[in-house]
Amino acid sequence: MQRQLLFLGFLLATLVKFSQAECNICSSESNVACVSKNKYQNCSANAIPTGTVYTCPNNTFCTGLPEKCTSNEAVASCNECRKCDGIIPFACTSPTTFALCNAVNEIASTEYPCSTGEVCLSQIGNPCVASPNGTSASCSYYALIDDLCIQKSSTGRFPYPNDLSCLKYVHCFRKGSTWSGNSWQCPSSKPFFSASTSTCVATKPATCA
Ligand SMILES: *[C@@H]1O[C@H](CO)[C@@H](O)[C@H](O)[C@H]1NC(C)=O
Ligand SMILES: *[C@@H]1O[C@H](CO)[C@@H](O)[C@H](O)[C@H]1NC(C)=O
Ligand SMILES: *[C@@H]1O[C@H](CO)[C@@H](O)[C@H](O)[C@H]1NC(C)=O
Repeated sequence: MQRQLLFLGFLLATLVKFSQAECNICSSESNVACVSKNKYQNCSANAIPTGTVYTCPNNTFCTGLPEKCTSNEAVASCNECRKCDGIIPFACTSPTTFALCNAVNEIASTEYPCSTGEVCLSQIGNPCVASPNGTSASCSYYALIDDLCIQKSSTGRFPYPNDLSCLKYVHCFRKGSTWSGNSWQCPSSKPFFSASTSTCVATKPATCA
């Protein structure tokens, strides 16, 4: 009996950990990707979060479980950004930067960047992992996308931050008194986003991975 309980506890812990850790990655259970603690996008055929950004109903969180949005914060995805949990010695501070943890809930102020084509992933081991298309970063891109659009302050298409594969682009638009944006994936007939023409093209630009 005790063994069974122990096993159940282990299974639950694994499940919870698994659904929590996921951010910016397509869940096979829900077919969506949580892109912030309360936002999600549908997944393209090649498992890239894309298109309209949906917001979970009030007081619910995005989860990799089949229900997509949950009121159970313990299974919320995208909750490991800037988190010092006492186990992993660093915390991601943006999709591509990290800082060391001084103690539980105590993050150092110096931030280190990952290399080009890498994202920061909150896991035991290296903070920076290769992800040419920008998927699986532990921190949300939403602040970055909005910052990009505020910086551009114009309606149009721009390269997606840190997406070396050039499969995605950001569409910026005016939202009330400020600027915001969504991410999109180029269609399969023209899969690459060309930064020079701001359109999707069939031939991979030389600057793309
Ligand atoms: C996202 O997926 C849902 C469920 O499959 C679908 O109803 C909706 O139209 C999709 N949205 C977009 C923008 O493709
Ligand atoms: C959700 O919260 C917003 C802002 O507080 C409010 O305007 C909206 O009516 C709420 N929606 C629901 C369904 O409760
Ligand atoms: C996106 O990047 C991940 C991580 O490197 C990789 O596993 C996946 O195959 C890539 N997907 C596409 C469509 O390039």
